[in-house]
Amino acid sequence: MTSSLIELNGVGKSFRSADGHSRPVLEGLDFQLRAGEIVALLGQSGSGKSTMLRIMAGLVPADRGQVRYRGQPMSGPARGISMVFQSFALFPWLTVQQNVELGLEARGVPRAEREAKAEAAIALIGLAGFEGALPRELSGGMRQRVGIARALVTEPEVLLMDEAFSALDVLTGERLREDILELWDSGQMPTQAMLVVSHNIEEAVMMADRVLVFASDPGRIRCQLSVQLPRPRDPDSAEVRALIDEVYALMTAGAGRPARSHGSADMPATPTPLAERLPVADVARMDGLLELLADAPFDGRADLPKLSEEAGLPDAELLPVAHALALLGLAQLDQGDLQLTALGRRYVDGPHGLRRDLFGQQLLAHVPLIAHIRHSLEQEPSGQMPDKPVLRLLSEQLDDGQAQSVLQTAVSWARHGEVFEYDFHTGALRLPTGDEESTR
Ligand SMILES: Nc1ncnc2c1ncn2[C@@H]1O[C@H](COP(=O)(O)OP(=O)(O)O)[C@@H](O)[C@H]1O
Ligand SMILES: [Mg+2]
Repeated sequence: MTSSLIELNGVGKSFRSADGHSRPVLEGLDFQLRAGEIVALLGQSGSGKSTMLRIMAGLVPADRGQVRYRGQPMSGPARGISMVFQSFALFPWLTVQQNVELGLEARGVPRAEREAKAEAAIALIGLAGFEGALPRELSGGMRQRVGIARALVTEPEVLLMDEAFSALDVLTGERLREDILELWDSGQMPTQAMLVVSHNIEEAVMMADRVLVFASDPGRIRCQLSVQLPRPRDPDSAEVRALIDEVYALMTAGAGRPARSHGSADMPATPTPLAERLPVADVARMDGLLELLADAPFDGRADLPKLSEEAGLPDAELLPVAHALALLGLAQLDQGDLQLTALGRRYVDGPHGLRRDLFGQQLLAHVPLIAHIRHSLEQEPSGQMPDKPVLRLLSEQLDDGQAQSVLQTAVSWARHGEVFEYDFHTGALRLPTGDEESTR
């Protein structure tokens, strides 16, 4: 059994939102990062992945549970652990060399040693010759290489990469990822373990020995998959494609279960189902995806990776749309496939009026927040109410940005189904025009 470098046991972390509510972001998080492994972490945005990494690096303390590094309780930033962030965070007025040396300066490493180590790290990551360049003279990919050199120069035992490739264009990101894997596999890096947060399923499968899927609200590890293929891996090989399919299936398992709000054996009602997070999916994309799914070559059932390719949507954008369709019963997620339901077929084949009615009906049946708003509006003599009480309700469970985003999604869906309207200037919710009379 390999020894664990970093160990989290029952870790919890809460943040206070603007209105004073304390909200658990992580809860019951157990995880071990062992020597010799690369672990990839996938999960929705806002699920607490970055918070987990900061806790692992000792940058922020956990509120509950234990965090150990090499068996010792973590107390403050740990020397052997480096982080690479999505944004390059370079000092624009410092050269590449100076930016890389910074990490060593903070540790009081003498000048000559600093220079030599920085040069070596710069060369290792493929930037030899650019030591004197300023960040603005470099491409995005090269700047991220500087960020990685800065993390590597301290010869970290553990490297935590937080969406380090996400801001780069696809090819640049792939090249950098391949270079890092090559360094890792050739033993040129001093690093013994890497944790890589990604929102790209293929990237996770190409890099990692283990892929973890994070759950949201509160964040914790939902499941994991081990990847025992030797590196470098061929992204087009049958083994890699099968694993990618499997990860899709894990990430979409349990989505769109009907009648959440009523509770069921496998999915008890949450205390405030109204404040549940909605997949951020716009209606045009939902329509587009349904149409794509309905027609040849898919004819109603598609493998998600193929659909992603056909729709030209990356996972991070496709998955919320697929989840939204499943939530509304227009499609079903099954083993990494998206399948049109009979209702979804009627919707796709129907004229505008039928689509609107079906969509509205499904919203009222499956999105408790939308049903609640509609019901409240029907109680109002004016058929109107401000958005404030709704936002207040949402912020009991979500932070302010998420509460806004959930309301915005609900509003855009409700408009499409003509369930209610929203005035962005006044923040008023109201019944659709023509509806007031019938309800009064
Ligand atoms: N310092 C903070 N204060 C308050 N809320 C925070 C803070 N850091 C993160 N959060 C909240 O915690 C949640 C998880 O954030 P984060 O760890 O960045 O998620 P992820 O990296 O998975 O996108 C988000 O709702 C975010 O708004
Ligand atoms: Mg993050």
